[in-house]
Amino acid sequence: MKILMAASEAVPFAKTGGLADMVTSLALALARLGHEVRIILPRYFGISRDKLRQLPGPLGVSMGGGEAWSAVYTDTLPGSSKKNPVEVYFIDHEGFFGRDGIYGSPSEPDFLDNPRRFAFFSRAVFQCCRKTGWFPDIIHAHDWPTALVPVFLKYRERDERFSGTASVLTIHNLGYQGVYSKDNFSYTGLDWNVFYNAGFDDWNMMNLLKAGLVSADKLNTVSPSYARETLTSAGGFRLDGVLRSRQGNYLGVLNGIDTHVWNPAKDPHIPVQYSAKDMSGKAAAKAALQKAFNLPDTPDVPVIGMVTRLTEQKGVGELFGPSYGSAWSICRDMNLQFVILGTGEAWCENELRSLSSHLSNFRAIIGYDEERSHLIEAGSDFFLMPSRYEPCGLNQMYSLAYGTPPIVRNTGGLADTVENFDQDTGTGTGFVFDDLTPQAIHNTVGWAVWAYYNRRPQVEALRLRGMKQNFSWDVSAKRYIALYEDALGIR
Ligand code: ADP
Ligand code: GLC
Repeated sequence: MKILMAASEAVPFAKTGGLADMVTSLALALARLGHEVRIILPRYFGISRDKLRQLPGPLGVSMGGGEAWSAVYTDTLPGSSKKNPVEVYFIDHEGFFGRDGIYGSPSEPDFLDNPRRFAFFSRAVFQCCRKTGWFPDIIHAHDWPTALVPVFLKYRERDERFSGTASVLTIHNLGYQGVYSKDNFSYTGLDWNVFYNAGFDDWNMMNLLKAGLVSADKLNTVSPSYARETLTSAGGFRLDGVLRSRQGNYLGVLNGIDTHVWNPAKDPHIPVQYSAKDMSGKAAAKAALQKAFNLPDTPDVPVIGMVTRLTEQKGVGELFGPSYGSAWSICRDMNLQFVILGTGEAWCENELRSLSSHLSNFRAIIGYDEERSHLIEAGSDFFLMPSRYEPCGLNQMYSLAYGTPPIVRNTGGLADTVENFDQDTGTGTGFVFDDLTPQAIHNTVGWAVWAYYNRRPQVEALRLRGMKQNFSWDVSAKRYIALYEDALGIR
């Protein structure tokens, strides 16, 4: 099958969250199965042209209100096999992408021209196929930034070269929908009847994700539990009705992880590699982590780790909210160390700084740091993810692979990947709680810490069971192939 991934992020080129990991690792897994896979991304300012090859000639992209001229660069996706490499196309346009930031900047969190930037990029996907003469069987779009791709395929790209192409749209996060003033609709170059037929209309605004959900041949999200949650009014972010209307064409496929990158036996970012057979390197990682975060080197005190975007979705209000969050009491009442790496909402960054300065066992690094994220996964004793909702979540799977039992809320992909510890039978892979309250977080961290001090053999067994879980893409990549085949059937 010829598969084109149209995305706004893919590691190692551009990343704000798990979407970037998923796009790359799925592409590589599909290529390993023998399919011809290509990825198309904007060439953001941070992706240097120096390392890329330029395709000859310009790329003309007609949009409402005129034609935009750009260039196409290419590179081979790192991690590709020589036999079947994944090619990456980069759409280069100075006006739209020649600035710092993927979706926004500190002073402008959602760039005002985002609807125009991503309408341009989504149109460019098709023009790039024409330019290269490579027409995919499947175009796989991800989240609101490329949700226009299935809309264009259905309503605009009707010539024979795309007549055999079907579209799949993956929801990574229903909380971000790309809702803008409908004045921006003109940039799509579509007729106004499409605005209503394709479901752009959203209380007199334009909703890009909604139009994609209405138009794509097949839809999915990134875990079975999250798929169920999104069909309810509690979890559907106002799009549950649209999703219910497409229920026969919508399912949950659990993400895999890239076991070449997230593997303690091969990880170059930790001091000593380790595996379930020989765990001694984990103690070295813990010592390095304590040093990196300027904490006392105490091997027998449990370390709770977090790596996260600091947004409401991740439960940071209940954990760090000034005067009601549980982090303060957790660190005051329990003999533990707490480390966190993250960036995000300003109030939360400030709160983390304040906790770091008031508590001797709490340390935060505000920033984005790939290397330290590996060290936290490896060196912590437990990994905390109290998410309000979690479409899949990759960090809990990384932490399981690193022998670091996760402490998670029972939601979405967290519920699908972590089995609660049972101290009577000694089963499970982590610690799970239901309610998103400061009290529940406090109690569940307390339970893990209690088990660390009082049930050590059971905790060690918990680590090993987590490490034996198979979260590789082997199974899920085949599920995507089945989904693509169904999409082609519909087409
Ligand atoms: P989400 O995509 O909702 O943020 P995921 O768990 O799916 O959640 O993926 C988050 C990804 O981003 C992981 O690979 C995680 O390690 C990474 N990440 C998040 N924040 C940081 C940070 N501050 N530094 C390094 N990596 C981070
Ligand atoms: C989103 C979700 C996260 C998921 C990731 C990759 O960012 O918030 O849960 O793991 O996409 O699919």
